[in-house]
Amino acid sequence: MATYLEQLETPVPIVDLDRLSFNLDRMAAYATLHGLQLRPHVKTHKSPRIAAEQLRLGAVGLTCATLREAEVMSEVCDDLLVAYPPVGAARLERLARLSPDVRVSVAADDAQTLDALNVAARLGRRQFDVLVEVDLGMHRVGVSSPERAIAIARQVERASALQFAGILFYPGHIRDAVEAQAAALGQLSADIAQYVGALTDAGLPPRVVSGGSTPAAWRMHEVPGVTEVRPGTYVYNDRTTARIGACDWDDCALTILATVVSTAVKGQAVIDAGTKALGREPLRAEGDGYGALLDHPEVVVARMSEEHGILDLTQTAWRPRLGDQVRVVPNHVCIAVHNFDEIIGVRGHAVETRWPVAARGRGPAIDELSEGPSRPRAV
Ligand SMILES: Cc1ncc(COP(=O)(O)O)c(C=O)c1O
Repeated sequence: MATYLEQLETPVPIVDLDRLSFNLDRMAAYATLHGLQLRPHVKTHKSPRIAAEQLRLGAVGLTCATLREAEVMSEVCDDLLVAYPPVGAARLERLARLSPDVRVSVAADDAQTLDALNVAARLGRRQFDVLVEVDLGMHRVGVSSPERAIAIARQVERASALQFAGILFYPGHIRDAVEAQAAALGQLSADIAQYVGALTDAGLPPRVVSGGSTPAAWRMHEVPGVTEVRPGTYVYNDRTTARIGACDWDDCALTILATVVSTAVKGQAVIDAGTKALGREPLRAEGDGYGALLDHPEVVVARMSEEHGILDLTQTAWRPRLGDQVRVVPNHVCIAVHNFDEIIGVRGHAVETRWPVAARGRGPAIDELSEGPSRPRAV
């Protein structure tokens, strides 16, 4: 017997399976058309099931941020990029313990970090490819000059267990509407030409130039030198992505199904999705609120408590009744996904499948707690 949306306990993330397929196909086709390698970031879905589909559609490998993501994804993929600074003994140990069958690339921007990475690789009897992270405007991580990139690349080449593979950048600072990105992409092209030129002159030509976020994904072929793109959000899309014009509203595949639990206060309705479902993420584009209704985009989640979302009804003629279900498009889908254990896959109103958000969380911070005498005592 079929199960329908109305039977689900809310709040719960639901994915329109047709939209998901469309989004996966569209990015795979874009990358193929322009000869770009696709290495999707798994932080959005954290799910081996979707990762396997991305690989089936031609992705060359996957990008991870956390070691938990890398561990889970190594079950379906033998080519992982960890695009997060490999700092700290516990993180390095976990990196070195990844399956020996998996080729692991790591992004790094610091000499000391590379020394530690090399030691970890040697202790783990393995090799890491290294992408030197460069800052092309995001101002988060990455070296800020070609000279520094050359110095780091040389250090990689000297390290016995590391190989220099190329450079990596994250164009997360590009949040203009897609048709208004020309200036930012022009700057990116000039910067990349400088880095690639300097490294090549130094005898270190980068094999890989890895970049690409979802907002900038559709125009990455206009940036000469880029060989690989790493979009993540495109699988589900979200309100920010739609506002930027990197997807249509109808391409938003994931919504949080919620129930109207109160209409007592005039001009508003309360749903059972608050910060613990949606996250308190601002719209990283023009507009207010923490999400909007799929079927009534003029209705936004104006305020939230942990378990309450306040829908602003002042801009709509729509009047919900107590117990009605609504579908909220989150501002930032990756954060919403991370709040749930499981995703429900639907076609129309029928529930078709379900899958775990298998790589959510961090895994244990420590294997075992020691009970040694140095621990503070209560008395
Ligand atoms: C290093 C890196 N690469 C790729 C991505 C994917 O970008 P987007 O979420 O816009 O698809 C992210 C997103 O945070 C990132 O941090």
